[in-house]
Amino acid sequence: MLRPISAKSNDSMSSSDNKTTNRLASLGVTQTEQVPPLFAELRSRFDRETPAVHDESSWKQFRDAWLGRKSGVLTQITDNWLKPATPELKRAVGAAMNELRAHVESKIEERRAAIESGAEDAAHERVDVSLPGVIRPIGSHHLIRQVFEDVEDIFFSIGFSVVEGPEIETPYYNFEALNIPEFHPVRDDMDTFYLDLPKGAAVPLLLRTHTSPMQIRTMEKQKPPVRVIVPGKVYRRDNPDATHSFAFHQVEGLAVDTDITFCDFTGTIEYFVKQFFGPSVKTRFRPSYFPFTEPSVEFDVSCIFCGGSGAAAGGGTCGKCKGAGWIELFGAGMVDPAVYGFVKYDAKKVNGFAFGMGIDRLAMLKYGIDDLQVFFQNDARFLRQFP
Ligand code: PHE
Repeated sequence: MLRPISAKSNDSMSSSDNKTTNRLASLGVTQTEQVPPLFAELRSRFDRETPAVHDESSWKQFRDAWLGRKSGVLTQITDNWLKPATPELKRAVGAAMNELRAHVESKIEERRAAIESGAEDAAHERVDVSLPGVIRPIGSHHLIRQVFEDVEDIFFSIGFSVVEGPEIETPYYNFEALNIPEFHPVRDDMDTFYLDLPKGAAVPLLLRTHTSPMQIRTMEKQKPPVRVIVPGKVYRRDNPDATHSFAFHQVEGLAVDTDITFCDFTGTIEYFVKQFFGPSVKTRFRPSYFPFTEPSVEFDVSCIFCGGSGAAAGGGTCGKCKGAGWIELFGAGMVDPAVYGFVKYDAKKVNGFAFGMGIDRLAMLKYGIDDLQVFFQNDARFLRQFP
């Protein structure tokens, strides 16, 4: 801390501190050569004291001690050394005093600026509540999730509701109750993951190969009319490539009532396709085979990329539909009466339709994506394109 320096409180100071209260004569200074050491001593005292000045109030005290008009050190020098000095000493004292004054004034000013800017630094460190906050990006729905929601909304609008079911299934729901008995050749088309179970487990378990088991679970639980869609993940033993993955996504649809015709079926599909891809897209169906639908069909849409012409924009054939003008979309059909037997519906009184669409495929077609794997790689550069 700074020691107060003033003529009035010099009793605590060393003998060198109070020299300025005495005249040169009583200090024994009679020769000009004796003057510079006197000032050098003062100057070094000043320099020693300066660094201790840290805040505004100690600075003021310091300034007054050295430059104060009444009893500052420089005033004392003027009064006690300069004024009574002999003519030959006066010159030397005057010159040395001016030098000391310039030094003291500039250092004191320097100190003031340092204290002031230090205070400003402290102000900068204070929290500025008006600054914008840290922006943390919020994620968005994965494109597959978005397409699920689009499909759900379209079917909501025509009276369907959503049900979901287990991804681990029994062979009964995944196959038997869907009229696919053991050793039926279609089981080969759905290379199935079976779970490793402890020896003696009551039933084998598998990862569902399609969402169709939920047809059975839904009909077991409720009487007709049934109008449900089933979004979900399905699994098959496929090697990953641009169009295959061991896990993918489907939406199953099932409508069962007492008066559902093939016309209702194709009308519903057509409505969906136009809502999803746009009004200019045409649909067609071709005969197909599924054990749980009869008749079974495969739905195609007119190629979204070439408008159904089969020709590429720059000449040649369209690469997406390979010139066919049509793209295979999904399997469907009227529910096979054999299935009603498994859920205790009266096959003579009810009828309905079912469909199963691949969501990944719908997304690839709608957004022009040609590699299925991008859905599973979670590369933010891809995901960000579908905020
Ligand atoms: N489950 C069939 C599949 O995954 C699709 C389908 C569903 C076909 C409903 C007809 C009726 O290939």
